Amino acid sequence: MRSLSFLFVALLATAGALEASQEAETALPAPGSLQQIKDFTGPTNASLYIYVPPKLPPSPALLVAVHHCAGNAPGFFRSTPYKALADAHGFIVAYPHSYHSGGCWDVSSRATLKHGGGGDSASIAAMVGWVLKAHPATDKSRVYLTGTSSGAMMTNVLAATYPELFAAAVVYSGVPAGCFSMPVATASSAEAPPWNSTCSQGKLISSVQHWAQIAKDMYPGYSGPRPRMRIIHGGTDTALLPPNYNETIKQWSGVFGYDWTKPVSVKQDTPKHGYSTTSWGPKLEGVWAAKEGHTVPYMGEADMKFFGLG
Ligand SMILES: *[C@@H]1O[C@H](CO)[C@@H](O)[C@H](O)[C@H]1NC(C)=O
Ligand SMILES: *[C@@H]1O[C@H](CO)[C@@H](O)[C@H](O)[C@H]1NC(C)=O
Ligand SMILES: *[C@@H]1O[C@H](CO)[C@@H](O)[C@H](O)[C@H]1NC(C)=O
Repeated sequence: MRSLSFLFVALLATAGALEASQEAETALPAPGSLQQIKDFTGPTNASLYIYVPPKLPPSPALLVAVHHCAGNAPGFFRSTPYKALADAHGFIVAYPHSYHSGGCWDVSSRATLKHGGGGDSASIAAMVGWVLKAHPATDKSRVYLTGTSSGAMMTNVLAATYPELFAAAVVYSGVPAGCFSMPVATASSAEAPPWNSTCSQGKLISSVQHWAQIAKDMYPGYSGPRPRMRIIHGGTDTALLPPNYNETIKQWSGVFGYDWTKPVSVKQDTPKHGYSTTSWGPKLEGVWAAKEGHTVPYMGEADMKFFGLG
């Protein structure tokens, strides 16, 4: 009996040590430079890079920044303003990194277009989970999301599939969630993500109700809070044509129950000259950049203001 309980105590101690070593592995990386998180694994092969600013407040926010096609996490880290903004405002930035040849995200498979479906969207959701575990002091009510082009498409997909994770999202030059879905959707994210030219050319015009239903069906039965959305698009975009702006606005107005034909305000030359910002309600605004192509340049400070991070 005695030796058995001894063994039990010894086992507990070993388990404790194991747990401690696992925790040590999931700690945030050293501050001040971009780091790949080698021990992160998600349902797909997407990998995770993290930037921790030198001065981290006691309960920091988290921003997830999703790259474009032909992009990658280190490149996105260098080409976007979020590192400097993280240094100035003290939040963690997570940069998901695509494993697909071509560097796009899967925004069209059945797996990725479903909450818990095990596609690339689930991998990025798991990255948020990784940060919250590695640094439990992270403020989970202040997790934000942004992306450009393919990353913008993924931002809309994540807002629909994992609305419970994000407080707000900024979409630079994307398409509505589900616009790239295939007639016979491929089953998993592992296959090369197909390009959908009907959608990219702005030929998928649908009703508010239909777009909203597509987004809601990605997480059936969900009735909790959803991220505030800011949709940005350029008027001379030739890669993801301008009609995708209104279609995305229609989708989210339908989800939030706003009348997209009756915006509550339109501000010209906001946030900069030649752009206009339209609001449909507290959770949805659009920025129309009439003279910009693909993609609209980042507006880091305006993003901060929208997130409430400034
Ligand atoms: C693009 O996606 C739509 C669904 O939004 C689908 O109906 C259409 O067939 C797809 N087009 C291509 C070229 O795959
Ligand atoms: C992940 O990569 C491994 C090794 O290259 C491959 O065998 C596997 O099919 C990939 N999984 C997915 C979901 O892409
Ligand atoms: C979006 O819809 C508004 C209102 O109907 C219209 O004035 C505008 O031209 C549309 N924009 C695009 C890019 O289709």
